Amino acid sequence: MKPPEFYRGREQTYLKHFFLEKYLERVAWNILSFRDEFVYVDGFSGPWKSEDEALEDTSFMIALNQLRKVRQGLKERGRDVRMRCFFNDNHESAYRDLANAVSAVDDIEIKALCRDFEDVVPEIVDYVGSSFSLTFIDPTGWTGFGLQKIESLLALPGEVIINFMFDHVNRFVDDPTPRNAATFDTLFGGPVWHLDVEHRVQAGHSREDAILHVYRERFRKFGKFPHVTSTRILKPLADRSYFHLVYGTRHWKGLVEYRYVEKSAINEQERVRGAAKITHQVECTGQSELFGKGGEKLGPRSSDEERNKELHAAYAILREILSTRGSCKYEMLIGEILEIPLVWKSDLDGWLTNMREGGEIDIPELKGRQRTAKPGYSIIWKAN
Ligand SMILES: C[S@@+](CC[C@H](N)C(=O)[O-])C[C@H]1O[C@@H](n2cnc3c(N)ncnc32)[C@H](O)[C@@H]1O
Repeated sequence: MKPPEFYRGREQTYLKHFFLEKYLERVAWNILSFRDEFVYVDGFSGPWKSEDEALEDTSFMIALNQLRKVRQGLKERGRDVRMRCFFNDNHESAYRDLANAVSAVDDIEIKALCRDFEDVVPEIVDYVGSSFSLTFIDPTGWTGFGLQKIESLLALPGEVIINFMFDHVNRFVDDPTPRNAATFDTLFGGPVWHLDVEHRVQAGHSREDAILHVYRERFRKFGKFPHVTSTRILKPLADRSYFHLVYGTRHWKGLVEYRYVEKSAINEQERVRGAAKITHQVECTGQSELFGKGGEKLGPRSSDEERNKELHAAYAILREILSTRGSCKYEMLIGEILEIPLVWKSDLDGWLTNMREGGEIDIPELKGRQRTAKPGYSIIWKAN
């Protein structure tokens, strides 16, 4: 994909593409190491606001390039795999550019359509069949992907990433006009979602956390996902959310991979937002003394506070799970703890090591100098 400088003024899009590129590579690689086929679905594929003639700043082109890279890597290991893509955009001129760009692609099977996403769901479900798929839903607002309408797609035996445009949602979610309210009922897959939001707000959560939580839980229900999580992408210049990438998977390993990519995306976010703020500051004032000599932003990273809060919550939940259940498998802990944003496998492993050394838990399968649990190992609470 293009470097961050290419995305100046739309750093959030860079981060979205960074995430997609890295995650797609990992999931395709993992799945194709034991399956022969992988399908990528981009329901709102664009091109949209592309500034590159070769469209390398679009999600569909990034996906094609990444899939080729994975296939080449597998070929070098003697594996031949099949890859298919389903691209869709309902805008005529975007579709024309899309169709034009993919017409010469002959090394990956592609189906491209110009339809409303919700209407095309049955065709996507048919196209994916029993293959493993990653579906990317990247709308311009909050309409066009109502949970009820896309339920059969969510329930496919694969994974889904939705760009939940919180900034847009937040601006319109309280507009009580029946027409507007109905669009949110569709987004959340049915009415009374706002009561669930209110309950969480009254329980002390921020409005953003509450809205996102209710959306994630409904997404989990409609997709029958055992694991759902999300990552917050900030506005380039303001410390406010632009959108959240909401992710559903059927396997705890998906969460590990997702969080691994999140970790590098968060570092990247610090870097590109820092650079965007410096550029903005210098452009507005001609002064750069708010920043260090090397141009770095002074003070704590903006994600540190958020991560510390999540770590604190995750540690408390881990102790609660262990103390109430007495014993559980390591992968079950991964599946529950790594649903919490910004909590990584290394955090969980570190806590378990400390708790074991402190005599609070036992991991009987650990032998000799082994310190980290593996899937299948039991974690047993001893502290009570
Ligand atoms: C945010 S852009 C997608 C950008 C693209 N995923 C990328 O990262 O390069 C959203 C796209 O969805 C298209 N679109 C909007 N509503 C749609 C709908 N209901 N069904 C299908 N496409 C839609 C728009 O024409 C636009 O190209």
